Amino acid sequence: MAETLTILGLESSCDDTAAAVVADGPDGARILSSVVLGQADLHAAFGGVVPEIAARAHSEKLDLAVRRALSEAGVTLRDIDALAVTAGPGLIGGVLAGVMLAKGIAAGTGLPLIGVNHLAGHALTPRLTDALPCPYLMLLVSGGHCQLLTVRGPASFERLGGTIDDAPGEAFDKVARLLGLPQPGGPAIEREAAAGDPARFALPRPLLDRPGCDMSFSGLKTAALRQRDLLIAERGGLTRQDRADLCAGFQAAVAEVLAEKTRRALAQSGAPALAVAGGVAANATIRAALKRVADAAGVAYVAPPLALCTDNAAIIAHAGAELFRAGHRDGMDLAARPRWPLDTGRPAMLGGGRKGAKA
Ligand code: KG4
Ligand code: ZN
Repeated sequence: MAETLTILGLESSCDDTAAAVVADGPDGARILSSVVLGQADLHAAFGGVVPEIAARAHSEKLDLAVRRALSEAGVTLRDIDALAVTAGPGLIGGVLAGVMLAKGIAAGTGLPLIGVNHLAGHALTPRLTDALPCPYLMLLVSGGHCQLLTVRGPASFERLGGTIDDAPGEAFDKVARLLGLPQPGGPAIEREAAAGDPARFALPRPLLDRPGCDMSFSGLKTAALRQRDLLIAERGGLTRQDRADLCAGFQAAVAEVLAEKTRRALAQSGAPALAVAGGVAANATIRAALKRVADAAGVAYVAPPLALCTDNAAIIAHAGAELFRAGHRDGMDLAARPRWPLDTGRPAMLGGGRKGAKA
């Protein structure tokens, strides 16, 4: 590999304003800094991300995130070799804020500019954390997205399947809401489920009876709602144990669907390794189910640390470094894209979760 590249990355496609500096060299990639300024407090009252509020907060905070990332890395813009910025998919106001700042820095410094697909940032994370060679199978599973991809290179992805309606994290969040648990719902459900019996309620395993790797989670959420209403009608309310059992049953159903669809995708792709990314990959039951799938198939299993599974700019800088080495450059006409499928050879999925094609 050629000399070390120092890349400044920007991320602003959803509700995290992030900047990072990554040094990509012969011994692999090193994160010199990774600053993530969350916006959870701004959106809490609305029960979800409000795009206009997110865009304004990104415009206000991106500058600060960049300054902090440079200072924590102990570098200045003079030490940077290229700028990598999320150019989509995501909430367009936020993506525009990042792309405009990156263009401004590029115009002022003459640095090369690289527009990065946010999903590619996630999908390439195991190469940043574990130097995982391509090809590998990636299960990208978050609050806004769910897809199975064969990763062949920094700009070469084949989608084998994905959700046709809700993303799993979105389903976790909705089920938590209907059980009166706090947001984000994933960790809350996982905590409750620890004391529950996953076999008490017969919740469905959507689409497992159909061939292929596509998934569906919206019916599962509705089944949980029906079960809750049934308990309320029968006994006038839910006991703590009822709630724990529902959480355990729901979590087990999601884990089983993800594991079985991943098993099929692994067989189909023939990839020698399985990797996961996205907030839902934090769930221990799901992680363990996927590890069993990898072990049974005799392939390696990579689950990056949680801070790099969720949204951050280090994964964008790293993807930018890979693209830069492959000769990718963008000009001042780089567009911000609300939708940007990774696998352009296939028709877009029907659903991608509450944030559109966002992960
Ligand atoms: O990747 P992420 O941080 O953000 C985006 O979706 O962009 O994922 C957040 C999602 C939320 O829906 C949250 O409920 C879910 O990941 N999540 C979990 C767990 N931790 C976070 N789901 C299940 N189990 C968890 N432990
Ligand atoms: Zn993401």
